[in-house]
Amino acid sequence: MAEPAVKANELVKWFGEGEARTVAVRGVSFEARFGEMLYIVGPSGSGKTTLLSMISGILRPNEGTVTVEDQDIWSLASDQIAEFRLNRVGFVFQDYHLFPRLTTLENVAIPLILKKRDWRESLNTAMEYLEIVGLKDRAQLPPVKLSGGEQQRVAIARAIAGRPDLLIFDEPTASLDGDTGRKIVDFVKNNILNDQRCIIIVTHDSRIYEYSDRIMRMEDGRITGVEQGGAREE
Ligand SMILES: Nc1ncnc2c1ncn2[C@@H]1O[C@H](COP(=O)(O)OP(=O)(O)O)[C@@H](O)[C@H]1O
Ligand SMILES: [Mg+2]
Repeated sequence: MAEPAVKANELVKWFGEGEARTVAVRGVSFEARFGEMLYIVGPSGSGKTTLLSMISGILRPNEGTVTVEDQDIWSLASDQIAEFRLNRVGFVFQDYHLFPRLTTLENVAIPLILKKRDWRESLNTAMEYLEIVGLKDRAQLPPVKLSGGEQQRVAIARAIAGRPDLLIFDEPTASLDGDTGRKIVDFVKNNILNDQRCIIIVTHDSRIYEYSDRIMRMEDGRITGVEQGGAREE
């Protein structure tokens, strides 16, 4: 069988020390495959965001390893980890993380420009992706002028514009109406996902379950089950 796109081995992460210590992830191992859309579901506080941060090179685990396409990412030097994040990963944060002083268009173009692409070409690509998420007419506005759902769509456009190998979405449709959420996830599944890519989505949104290949359940920092996806749950 082909190597998995992402392999997490016995990941542990805690915050704080002594009395104040919270263990967010308590020994998680799983594989995400190339060509798959893997969903992670579970109650608030179960460690989903912490897990996503560790597999995408944002948050260093206390224990365990993350292997992405054969690379043990946390064994890399910090500048190589930064390069990994820029070149290989698209991340949609739960709270969007848009740059307040840039326009919507510039927010989407920034990762492309950082990859040393031509400036004008980056802006053109950014505009294409803004159009895909239905925000072309918002291109010149700063994020503060946008609604929560619009900001979420900008964050999605930014993550997919670079067509990274590994796309990680943290509750990407939480602020979107059902139709918009489904349309965007449908686009991602049909136009971005391919057999060299892998998409991991944390979500509570049963309206988009139909697009999942597998659904992994997390509770209290542990994986408690993995199911076949694709079911349309009501
Ligand atoms: N930076 C942090 N500092 C302290 N505690 C944190 C931090 N991030 C997460 N936690 C704690 O870790 C646990 C898991 O959080 P999180 O990964 O955000 O869960 P989820 O995304 O499933 O809601 C929670 O108890 C949360 O309060
Ligand atoms: Mg979370």
